[in-house]
Amino acid sequence: MAYIARITICVLLFFASCSQCFMRVAINVQKLNVAQHIGPKYVGVTIDSSVIREHWGTIDFNSPKFLTLAKGLAPSFVRVGGTDCDFVIFNETTTAMNERKDKAGHTNFTMTAADWDELNIFVSFVGWDLIFDLNVFLRKDGHWDPTNAIELIKYTIEKGYKPVAYELGNELDVFHDFVVTAKEVAPDFAHLKQILSSYPELAPFFILGTDAGTVASVSVKFMTEFFEAGGGESIDVATFHHYYMDSRKATVDKFHNVTVLESLRPMLINVINLCKRFIPTKQVWLGETSSSYGGGAYEISDRYVSSFLWLDKLGLSSVLGIQGVLRQSFYGGNYGLINSNLDPNPDYWLTVLFKRLVASPVFTVPQPPNPDLRIYAHCTNTNSSMGYTAGSVTLYLLNLGNTTVPVDVPDMVNKTHHIYMFSPGDDTGLTSKSIKLNGVVLALANDNELPPLKPVIGQGNIQVEAYNMGYIVFPGAMRSECV
Ligand SMILES: *[C@@H]1O[C@H](CO)[C@@H](O)[C@H](O)[C@H]1NC(C)=O
Ligand SMILES: *[C@@H]1O[C@H](CO)[C@@H](O)[C@H](O)[C@H]1NC(C)=O
Ligand SMILES: *[C@@H]1O[C@H](CO)[C@@H](O)[C@H](O)[C@H]1NC(C)=O
Ligand SMILES: *[C@@H]1O[C@H](CO)[C@@H](O)[C@H](O)[C@H]1NC(C)=O
Ligand SMILES: *[C@@H]1O[C@H](CO)[C@@H](O)[C@H](O)[C@H]1NC(C)=O
Ligand SMILES: *[C@@H]1O[C@H](CO)[C@@H](O)[C@H](O)[C@H]1NC(C)=O
Repeated sequence: MAYIARITICVLLFFASCSQCFMRVAINVQKLNVAQHIGPKYVGVTIDSSVIREHWGTIDFNSPKFLTLAKGLAPSFVRVGGTDCDFVIFNETTTAMNERKDKAGHTNFTMTAADWDELNIFVSFVGWDLIFDLNVFLRKDGHWDPTNAIELIKYTIEKGYKPVAYELGNELDVFHDFVVTAKEVAPDFAHLKQILSSYPELAPFFILGTDAGTVASVSVKFMTEFFEAGGGESIDVATFHHYYMDSRKATVDKFHNVTVLESLRPMLINVINLCKRFIPTKQVWLGETSSSYGGGAYEISDRYVSSFLWLDKLGLSSVLGIQGVLRQSFYGGNYGLINSNLDPNPDYWLTVLFKRLVASPVFTVPQPPNPDLRIYAHCTNTNSSMGYTAGSVTLYLLNLGNTTVPVDVPDMVNKTHHIYMFSPGDDTGLTSKSIKLNGVVLALANDNELPPLKPVIGQGNIQVEAYNMGYIVFPGAMRSECV
């Protein structure tokens, strides 16, 4: 009996000590395979057209703080679009318009010359590229009526502004108050392309569309019809929108739940395959995307916990072949990278470091057996202020759970690595309004520059503590793909 008891204890001890080792994660940085390539402006931002209706809300285009925060994300695309793009009417000569509600409660509104001036001067000053979404509800005899767009184009050329890209309409597949079908909008896009091409001053430009409302089946159906009607020839980039959930049903738990994170994967694969079939040489972007739709979840989408959904979306999208991710939003709603006081939320800092540290190509990393840990790997950005040189590799890791996860890096154990690890900014934990980098709360020291974002130098295996996420750079990885 004693003998059997001893064996039982030994077996129990084996499993107790080894429950850790089954969960251990190992990653060989020098053996990762290249999965995809992305461009230097893979991450962009949006400003919703509804902010034009408010004549830019609390944005102060002269605020040094606002300009500093925007410059911190350059180079970047900014897409100005959304539901309200289909109610905006450019008017060079007036400052106001009598708003008249239609039956569904929608009202048109004016974008004044001053509104357009402010936007264009701003993007050029901070080094961003403007993508502008034109109103597709201005229609005549079942076709898009470009009269107002042409007024805007002429004014734009006269002022020397240089938007880099255009869109036409927003989420027509899920917006049911007005119906414009995929069959109708396909020739509208051809018309848009023809008009834009007729102004040499606008070149080079590109066209994104159709800004389908989801990556789910309703949008796949709409985009299939759009492609079948020849729409694919007029666009350079296919755009789909994505939100994980409805803001009204959002919870803190859902924001770091692996099932929620993984819900994106099959849908992205589906839309990428659709586009491969119809427009194999063209890019697919998440043209407007965030944690939860309907303005973002109150006291969740602007908190530390939202960074899990954001960083994971950037990783998953890049490894599956998405070429651009436009974050709803830079400013506006609970999901803004900056808040209505123009102060940065946690996701702002995560995005700044993504841009500085993460580049192309993207490597395949098998998802670890421990579902709490998410890992992505890319070549390091060698064209940023961080000064990394060719050959370096950046991993990004997210620990969704409440226990520390060790990560072994067998082929890098003898070389140093640079740690940029984020954690909640205060004792409220996941709902913290602020975020720490390597243990120090991030904040602007002054309005004219971002604080230094310095790494901690480490060596050997990596510990990802509970609810931490961040970047690890291996300057000594010597990957020939990383030039
Ligand atoms: C612009 O506003 C003026 C003055 O209110 C009006 O007469 C004109 O029709 C408007 N133009 C457009 C394109 O709405
Ligand atoms: C907006 O203006 C267009 C053009 O005048 C008109 O066709 C449309 O019905 C208006 N929409 C609303 C919501 O008033
Ligand atoms: C995550 O969400 C799924 C589905 O909503 C649920 O079944 C699961 O229990 C959640 N996981 C955790 C760790 O809360
Ligand atoms: C490096 O970055 C600068 C500033 O964004 C940009 O102008 C330049 O084209 C980039 N160079 C390369 C080789 O990507
Ligand atoms: C850690 O999370 C697990 C499930 O995700 C939960 O059952 C457990 O109570 C948590 N532990 C602590 C200390 O919060
Ligand atoms: C790391 O250094 C140890 C001791 O010198 C050596 O035994 C080991 O092979 C090295 N590992 C690698 C991956 O270079």
